[in-house]
Amino acid sequence: MDNKKYSRKKFISFLGKVTLGVTVIPPFLTSCGNTSTPIKLGELSNIQLERLKTLSLEGLTSTDEDDLVLTKGLDYYTIIKWNDKISNKDTFGFNCDFTCFIPLDPKNPNDGLLWVNHEYINTLFVSGYNYRDPKQSRTKQQVDKEMYNVGGSIVRIRKENGKWEIVHNDPHNRRITAKTPIKFNWDKPIKGKTTAIGTLANCSGGITPWNTFLTCEENYDGFYGDIEYDENNNPTKIPSYGYGWDNFYDYPPEHYGWVVEIDPKLGMAKKHIALGRFAHECCTLFQLNDNRVVAYTADDKNDEHLYKFVSSKPNSLKEGTLYVADLQNGKWLALDWKNQAKLKSKFKDQTEVLIRAREASKLLGATELNRPEDIEIDPITGDIFVSLTNNKPKGDYHGSILKIEEKNGAFDSLTFHASTYIAGGEESGFSCPDNLAFDFSGNLWLTSDMSGSSMNKIDSPYMPFKNNSLFVIPRHGNEAGKVIRVASAPRDAELTGPWFAPDGKSLFLSVQHPGEQTTHLNNPTSKWPFDEDNIPKPSVVAITGDLIEKMNNLNKIEGSSC
Ligand code: FEO
Ligand code: CA
Ligand code: CA
Repeated sequence: MDNKKYSRKKFISFLGKVTLGVTVIPPFLTSCGNTSTPIKLGELSNIQLERLKTLSLEGLTSTDEDDLVLTKGLDYYTIIKWNDKISNKDTFGFNCDFTCFIPLDPKNPNDGLLWVNHEYINTLFVSGYNYRDPKQSRTKQQVDKEMYNVGGSIVRIRKENGKWEIVHNDPHNRRITAKTPIKFNWDKPIKGKTTAIGTLANCSGGITPWNTFLTCEENYDGFYGDIEYDENNNPTKIPSYGYGWDNFYDYPPEHYGWVVEIDPKLGMAKKHIALGRFAHECCTLFQLNDNRVVAYTADDKNDEHLYKFVSSKPNSLKEGTLYVADLQNGKWLALDWKNQAKLKSKFKDQTEVLIRAREASKLLGATELNRPEDIEIDPITGDIFVSLTNNKPKGDYHGSILKIEEKNGAFDSLTFHASTYIAGGEESGFSCPDNLAFDFSGNLWLTSDMSGSSMNKIDSPYMPFKNNSLFVIPRHGNEAGKVIRVASAPRDAELTGPWFAPDGKSLFLSVQHPGEQTTHLNNPTSKWPFDEDNIPKPSVVAITGDLIEKMNNLNKIEGSSC
């Protein structure tokens, strides 16, 4: 693998691969405003190109201020906070992550359904259980409250007087939680069942060409534990490392760690077994000309892998082959029990290969990566960008972004070239890249995910970076290739789920786990978003302002279907 150190000159030469402003990506016109669903941009006019070239950006310096601090030209307002009512019976869940917006009517981009992942809970805030207090015992009622607060929310939002607002009690508003029964999209039962109870650990996600949401179950083992196999293939149950729900409910760990698809209008959900079971960060789809789909997805754990699923039938996330990446040889290795003798020798069938995808990948010689997280497809070049957050035991504290170039630009190719696009660190100005998003002009936005326990600590390598932030790497103009900090998160928080609204005038963004290091409710480490309760609340905000509109070069979406 080509492991180049970051330099701005190299970034700019990378940009020079194609004519500025011409997209090469084939149509995947599911929704506008996010390159998980890239829109066909067409050519930029000379006026638009000139405007982008002269765009000047003033970056923030790192700060530990307890606020959502924005650079000049940006503003924000809160759309929804944890525990807000979304209907007469449901409330918004905790720790919001992935956001995604689908207009209800493609002709009206100002009215639609917002999906928000709720990844995990802080029991202190959600159920009142303080795990730091050895005298406290926990009740099933507390666990039930925690189970309600993960999963996801569907909320209708509408733009009124230039501002996105919740449509309260809209019939589409609903919760999917750790209690919702969800069918497996597979012909064989999983651990004896055809239905799982609930979804959890919902980190990032994606969108399908047929306009449904994908929500990804990441650190599932924190809830019901996991199953480990010894060298003789004997299983052992590993208890949950985090929430201990397995002390209250006997649900098989094999029912979690999947990609889950949600129908926005009906709320129906299914778990896609064919995409494998591991700590899925996200799932980024591309639709081929014959309507088969390619789904990129990664396992966010030290020394785990990058995967892609290629369907054999149009618009299927069931029929097809799951591959895992061998970066050294630039090959996608098929996790295909029938045709891989090594897999046949260890696993009894394809279902077991998919349930134990990590072990199957290692058996085939897949490349171990440094916590692969979010994946986006460059709308200009078609290259695939993968955040590698860090791998502290291996001495990689700041992570990098990996670039995958499929052979001949074919997303279903079985060979590729891998290189490091940019490395984190003091030289580039960011650490621990996580979520990625390309805007309408092909600028790359990225969020950082330094852990709450290591940020702003004197002896930590993360000290210079202070709070987690949102950055942009402009593609055009004087600042092309620079990493510019445009937003700084409240204390202990992480900014997640960036998603551009179809009109390009707002960036939806989650503020996850503000005040996470709080040990007593009467003395929280953050009070953001500063509402009357005086405690921190994970929330979704809309970031607006002149800068977003200029970066998105808005004139060019005139005439698009959005
Ligand atoms: Fe939930 Fe890998 O971030
Ligand atoms: Ca993440
Ligand atoms: Ca993360």
